[in-house]
Amino acid sequence: MDETMTLPFEVKLAAGADMVEGELRRLLDTRPLEGELYRPDRLLKAMRHGVLNGGKRLRPFLVLETAALFEATDDTAALRVAAALECIHCYSLVHDDLPAMDDDDLRRGKPTVHRAFDEAAAILAGDSLLTYAFDIVSAPETALPAEAKITLVNRLARASGMGGMAGGQALDLAAEGSSLSEDEILRLQAMKTGALIRFACEAGAVVGSAQDADIERLGEFGAAIGLAFQLADDLLDLTASSEAMGKATGKDAAAGKATLASLHGIDWTRQQLRGLVAQAEDILEPFGERADTLKQAARFVAERQS
Ligand code: IPE
Ligand code: IPE
Ligand code: MG
Ligand code: MG
Ligand code: MG
Repeated sequence: MDETMTLPFEVKLAAGADMVEGELRRLLDTRPLEGELYRPDRLLKAMRHGVLNGGKRLRPFLVLETAALFEATDDTAALRVAAALECIHCYSLVHDDLPAMDDDDLRRGKPTVHRAFDEAAAILAGDSLLTYAFDIVSAPETALPAEAKITLVNRLARASGMGGMAGGQALDLAAEGSSLSEDEILRLQAMKTGALIRFACEAGAVVGSAQDADIERLGEFGAAIGLAFQLADDLLDLTASSEAMGKATGKDAAAGKATLASLHGIDWTRQQLRGLVAQAEDILEPFGERADTLKQAARFVAERQS
């Protein structure tokens, strides 16, 4: 067995986060790329504020780990796709925190981008991060066949847009103060949080030139842990301190936001989380021991304390 298998999950996640952080720093360098005219200093600073120094980097970690499952020949391609996805995730947080959305002052233990800069800077930093993600995936430096890049760009667009994360955010805002059915909450969560996590798991398989059936299987795994991720976020919003989370807590109840945790209570949510972990582990069974780290990731998602 590979000796890295025995390391605690947090150590593996931190090692992945370091690699991703390094790649993001290179990508958000002051030097313009070919075809870019100039990188405005304040915009770039706002982007760097929203992206660097913090974050669990779970989504990029999932890209790297699922790619490793298929022994992707070029790790740099997986790292670039991972960094592109993190750019979209960070953009979603920058916009999620805006006064027109959740109106938050703290993110990853720091002032939110619109607090450290201003609202226009936060909007434009988000726009630029979203666009940059597609640049990163499609660029010549991403050493993948053109067909794989098109697949990734297409899946990433669908996971991020109106039928994915952004659509989920719209449903989430529309639901404030109204009561949703359990199915409506599940759909909302599958979109706002699940879609990007599902993409993370599928993307690694695409990078690793996996068969369609395996891409599909990893997608199912991603959907299960994506739901677990948002359930845990809602639970932590109810139970954790702002210091532990690096962001405000108690926000969902204050905003009258229906979550499964508020609908069914803390014990029910913990039980659901255990069920989702078991489901996620089952889905990975065909991959045997090679998927042990991904199974640990599923447990981490459900049991995380920040
Ligand atoms: C927070 O995501 C937003 C949700 C989708 C619930 P994370 O908990 O992954 O945030 P970071 O990236 O670690 O800060
Ligand atoms: C945000 O959900 C999900 C996205 C950013 C797409 P939340 O609004 O619950 O995330 P936090 O709690 O602010 O991180
Ligand atoms: Mg929100
Ligand atoms: Mg929020
Ligand atoms: Mg939340």
